Amino acid sequence: MEAQRVSVWWLDVSTVAETQWAALTARLRDDERARSQRFHFDHDRFSYVAAHVLGRGLLAAWTGIAANAWTFTADGFGKPEVAAPAWPRRLRLNLSHTRGLAAAVLTEDSDVGVDVEWLDRRPVEEELAPRFFAAAECAQLAAMAPQDRHHGFLALWTLKEAYVKAIGKGLAQPLDSFAFTLDPLGVSFDDDLADDPCHWLFRRLRPSPSHILALALRHPDPASVQIEARAMSVAELLTYP
Ligand SMILES: CC(C)(COP(=O)(O)OP(=O)(O)OC[C@H]1O[C@@H](n2cnc3c(N)ncnc32)[C@H](O)[C@@H]1OP(=O)(O)O)[C@@H](O)C(=O)NCCC(=O)NCCS
Repeated sequence: MEAQRVSVWWLDVSTVAETQWAALTARLRDDERARSQRFHFDHDRFSYVAAHVLGRGLLAAWTGIAANAWTFTADGFGKPEVAAPAWPRRLRLNLSHTRGLAAAVLTEDSDVGVDVEWLDRRPVEEELAPRFFAAAECAQLAAMAPQDRHHGFLALWTLKEAYVKAIGKGLAQPLDSFAFTLDPLGVSFDDDLADDPCHWLFRRLRPSPSHILALALRHPDPASVQIEARAMSVAELLTYP
């Protein structure tokens, strides 16, 4: 069987010079540019632009087709899917942006999701874990030293978001219908979900000292998957036509 290739790129927004934003924004299509202008905070706009340029750069690098040629459609749950130009296989792209970091993942055919979080954000575990997490995840957090719970929560959160983004349902999928363990990394699904942990590959990455990233990929043979994961610079991103 042909090896499944997956590319994950991220861009640390703090590495982008003030003068480079115009060149990055010029890579977007009109609807994206218009949306980028509606963000109230510069930091939200920067992460949004970075994520969308990364996604387009990945598509250009993968296919050789210009970055701004790509169009997307969104399904009923809002998941964007690559619409055109035509490509022999189904291109699967997913984006994530948080304060200071953007990430994009691209593969063919398989469901894939990515999520990034900023570690310096306000702690929300006490509020959100009891509301959204499975009982086993809440117990895992409770067993951690108090100073580890913030990172522990965000590690679980990014994995859960990467999974619900990969299956395309977003928060329409109840987050307590599946549970991750961090050490060792694993997942279990409620019967209603009718999913199989053996058909999933999950990865936790640390793209910057202040950020974490989780990746979820559905694949019949997770051990055979080849992941290329790396930081991008603006200079390199702008080399794609
Ligand atoms: C929309 C959602 C899928 C991801 O939201 P998020 O984690 O805030 O945002 P991310 O930056 O990781 O991902 C957003 C991107 O996912 C993609 N996306 C949107 N809906 C999607 C879906 N149903 N499935 C997969 N991907 C989706 C889009 O490309 C979107 O980027 P865009 O809006 O710039 O086009 C959803 O799960 C959600 O709203 N999550 C809640 C976020 C939250 O409460 N965070 C608090 C954290 S502690």
